[in-house]
Amino acid sequence: MKMSKDRASTSAKLSRRGLLVGAAASPLAAIALPAAAETRPSEPVDHVNLNMEVPFYGSGGQAGVETPPQRYIHFMTFDLTTVNPRDLQVLLARWSAAIAQMAKGETIGQVEPAREHGIGFDTGEALDLGPASLTVTVGLGPEVFSERLGLAAMKPQFLRELEHLPSDAFLPQFTGGDLSLQACADDPQVAYHAIRDLARIAKDTGAASTRWTVMGFGRASAGRNQATPRNLLGYKDGTRNIAEPEDFDRFVWTRDDPVWGGMGSYQVARKIKMHIENWDVDRVSDQNNVFGRFKVSGAPLTGTDEFDTPDFGKTDAEGNHVIPRTSHISLAAHENNDGIKILRRSYNYTEGINEVGLLSAGLLFISYQNDPAHFERLQQRLGAADRLNEYISHIGSAIFFVPPAPEEGHYIGQQMFG
Ligand code: HEM
Repeated sequence: MKMSKDRASTSAKLSRRGLLVGAAASPLAAIALPAAAETRPSEPVDHVNLNMEVPFYGSGGQAGVETPPQRYIHFMTFDLTTVNPRDLQVLLARWSAAIAQMAKGETIGQVEPAREHGIGFDTGEALDLGPASLTVTVGLGPEVFSERLGLAAMKPQFLRELEHLPSDAFLPQFTGGDLSLQACADDPQVAYHAIRDLARIAKDTGAASTRWTVMGFGRASAGRNQATPRNLLGYKDGTRNIAEPEDFDRFVWTRDDPVWGGMGSYQVARKIKMHIENWDVDRVSDQNNVFGRFKVSGAPLTGTDEFDTPDFGKTDAEGNHVIPRTSHISLAAHENNDGIKILRRSYNYTEGINEVGLLSAGLLFISYQNDPAHFERLQQRLGAADRLNEYISHIGSAIFFVPPAPEEGHYIGQQMFG
């Protein structure tokens, strides 16, 4: 079954399903919400159809940005190992052809040993699993546009390293990269297979080698008409995320940037470790003040329903703000940031336990915006004052430009090679 990447028909298909399920689950689903509330329905619409395909080719933005988040992610960054633009060109062409195949649930070649069939073979572990809504989103880091590859004139307008932000505590092994692959699917093995075979192609072309990677689950963000999932701190995450097409146009997609093709986006990836044991001994009433929301319902501290609009000005009898000014949502909300919004497309991750037996887990935070300064603006405030900082550390970071989707018969970034 094909899911169109085209926004209108994708959301039409999902809305239709949403209406059917919502109507079956509750006769109230059809009643209009009060004007002050968010528009996303609170009835969960969270089907997984492992036969669903999301096309790779198209005339708009790449799949995996506006696509409703799938359940699993495998994210990997790569270092360039060439100074020859032709090698990069070959890599992007081969990656594009392979991604298009895998998005259809097909292998990238015969399932045979490399010695007999060269790099064209497929490792086989995704055979019979279906497309599982696989999307692989390709990002280009700032170094792609340095002088060494001769592509400096093609640099997207705002692509640069992120400025140093308060609370940055990066470890080199989780930082940077010249290329990124964000593989998302409703089956973790489908996402794993995609990255594995694309990493093999990178090695074979001699253009890039692996740098850092995170495998994530339990999408910690909600798309249009999706039920809101929870992050590993137990809170609903993604309640007030970008969902409306107008907001995608205004805050996510570039228009005339870069000169060789609009409808791109800037991808920021942060590996954020959670100090889970500390969090677990905190009282829920304190935890609610950290986020400015109630844990079970997800409602803001000034409301009763998840989708009630937070009232950041409301004070109690003592004159204290009901949603603390240093709570996560008060610092990050668009109402308190000159209207700025970013698209969050994050996932939970775990790496088991660390060397002293503590749980090693956190959030692979990924955001898309049409100017990385928008992320910096929010993280500047969060990093300086967020109550959540006691329980998290930003240990990894990278930035990429995600070029538009290629038309059939073309490949990602083709225009920048002239
Ligand atoms: C481990 C790190 C983080 C956790 C656990 C976390 C969790 C949450 C939760 C539970 C919410 C409330 C529900 C919602 O509206 O989605 C929220 C909202 C939000 N977060 Fe985070 N977040 C984290 C990091 C970040 C970072 C790094 C940024 C951006 C720099 C960010 C930006 C936002 C924004 C813009 C909102 C919506 C605020 C609103 O409009 O009410 N978050 N986050």
